[in-house]
Amino acid sequence: MSATTDSSKLFRFLQQQAGVSRRKALALVASGEVAVNGVAVTDPFLRLEVGAAHRLALRGHPLSLEPRESRIYRLYKPAGTLCSHDDPFCGNTVGRLLRAEGFLGYSWVGRLDQDAEGLLLLSNDGDVIQAMSHPRYEVTKEYRVWLGESVPARDVERALHKMVQGIDDEGETLRILEGRAESRPLCAVVVLAEGRKHEVKRLFTYFGYTVRRLVRVAVGPVRLGNLAPGDCDRLPRDEEDSLLRRARQLLAEAGETSDRDL
Ligand code: URA
Repeated sequence: MSATTDSSKLFRFLQQQAGVSRRKALALVASGEVAVNGVAVTDPFLRLEVGAAHRLALRGHPLSLEPRESRIYRLYKPAGTLCSHDDPFCGNTVGRLLRAEGFLGYSWVGRLDQDAEGLLLLSNDGDVIQAMSHPRYEVTKEYRVWLGESVPARDVERALHKMVQGIDDEGETLRILEGRAESRPLCAVVVLAEGRKHEVKRLFTYFGYTVRRLVRVAVGPVRLGNLAPGDCDRLPRDEEDSLLRRARQLLAEAGETSDRDL
């Protein structure tokens, strides 16, 4: 049975309609930011029925109780844009870009540093965000890295080889799954399955290099392709369906019920 055809718990509606993870939905309810019929509620397990004239609102914004289509988009985050829904000190955020494009209730998979650029996957489906963001699911990410210094390609290849074996940095072992150097101009291509903070920069800094430009070109099976900075497009339906299925399967295997299972 679909989660919203009949009755479902409040946090499930929030996951679906606001595109947030289960943890985030529970926290939003606990902090009193969710109202049903105009009254703040703090019980995330409250059952709501579609068609029973409930009105659901998050921070004063109405949310529908009707089932909605799950969608996944690719966005090219430009360098300089901050990966935040809202930031008191920076107006140039992904959240603002999305609101300007009319995306409401969407979140994204995996942060990028403000000076980094490239692929962000956007979705209004909490399962996709959760399954593709969590380190446990080891979703691969591919980056192209341009260095600040001119270095012989063989030195970079040597460093990449060591990165595959793993390096110790600030008490953590960082490693890449694969890497190669491309020349003219020299660019390193690395694939990682982890998502540690500033991981690519830390890996290159370890070998004495500075990262001049960092572009994420793939997240899992989705590639940035020829999208231009600031552009956004919806995944083809077959790719979208396959990612949705994969996300629900990963959550089910991990014992985390998908919001479509209840
Ligand atoms: N690694 C980094 O150092 N920065 C990013 O934005 C992503 C991966």
